[in-house]
Amino acid sequence: MKQTWKAGNMLYPVPAVMVSCQRSGEKPNIVTVAWAGTICSDPAMVSISIRKERYSHEIISETKEFVINLTTKNLCRATDFCGVRSGRNVDKFRELHLTAEPSEKINAPGIAESPVCIECKVKKIVELGSHDMFIADVVAVRVDESLLDSKGTLHLAKADLLAYSHGSYYELGKTIGKFGFSVQKKNGNGIGQTKAVKKSDYRIGGKSDHKEEKGKTGTGRKEKSGYGNKSGSEGKKATVNKNASRKKGKYSGDIRSGRK
Ligand SMILES: Cc1cc2nc3c(=O)[nH]c(=O)nc-3n(C[C@H](O)[C@H](O)[C@H](O)COP(=O)(O)O)c2cc1C
Repeated sequence: MKQTWKAGNMLYPVPAVMVSCQRSGEKPNIVTVAWAGTICSDPAMVSISIRKERYSHEIISETKEFVINLTTKNLCRATDFCGVRSGRNVDKFRELHLTAEPSEKINAPGIAESPVCIECKVKKIVELGSHDMFIADVVAVRVDESLLDSKGTLHLAKADLLAYSHGSYYELGKTIGKFGFSVQKKNGNGIGQTKAVKKSDYRIGGKSDHKEEKGKTGTGRKEKSGYGNKSGSEGKKATVNKNASRKKGKYSGDIRSGRK
């Protein structure tokens, strides 16, 4: 039985990213953003939604540039700090002993301690209500070489990325499937390949294994995608910059906190 709640934000988990930005001649700043997303594969585009009153809103509106820095288990405390202190009052890079590293294609710096820095140029700002959405082109992606194997393939799972869900930060767990495994005949991922799906497998708190019905393997069509499989970011050779040296409740879904 489900309860129906009033409209609110409940799309979880999401990444909580550290967005860095800088005005020429001023100190760089970092703002934590949970309302961020991939919005187009080709051209590669992302969006971040920021409240008008944020210091970063001011900077990004002016410079039209920012870097999305993926966050990790090690960056968890810094991620939270950058989400509860304003750059108007504190130098977050200095306070957190983080390193502003030059970007490849834009003037805003990335965070050296982040394993993946996504350089973005704002194309459009859409006023939505509480937040303005910055729609941006991805102009470069810089990944830490430690995540690449000898063939240049990216292993993002090694980065210990953070997830944010309803007011809490989480580490990612073990891999339980790979893109398309549900319709693969053999050697998909070795998970539940031959067992039929039972309705009880979907229950909350029930078994988490993904099952595949024997003999019925979906359309058999190979999906063309850019959703993180080989034709997307994972498995694609990356360009590496070799020179680069809530408050609880606020973003916790907001339905219960009454904030939207
Ligand atoms: C986990 C988390 C996620 C957040 N997500 C957003 C967001 O998506 N948009 C936003 O405007 N503020 C968000 N915030 C709040 C800002 O990060 C916070 O107000 C920050 O102090 C603003 O910094 P600034 O004034 O230096 O820009 C979030 C805070 C936390 C802790």
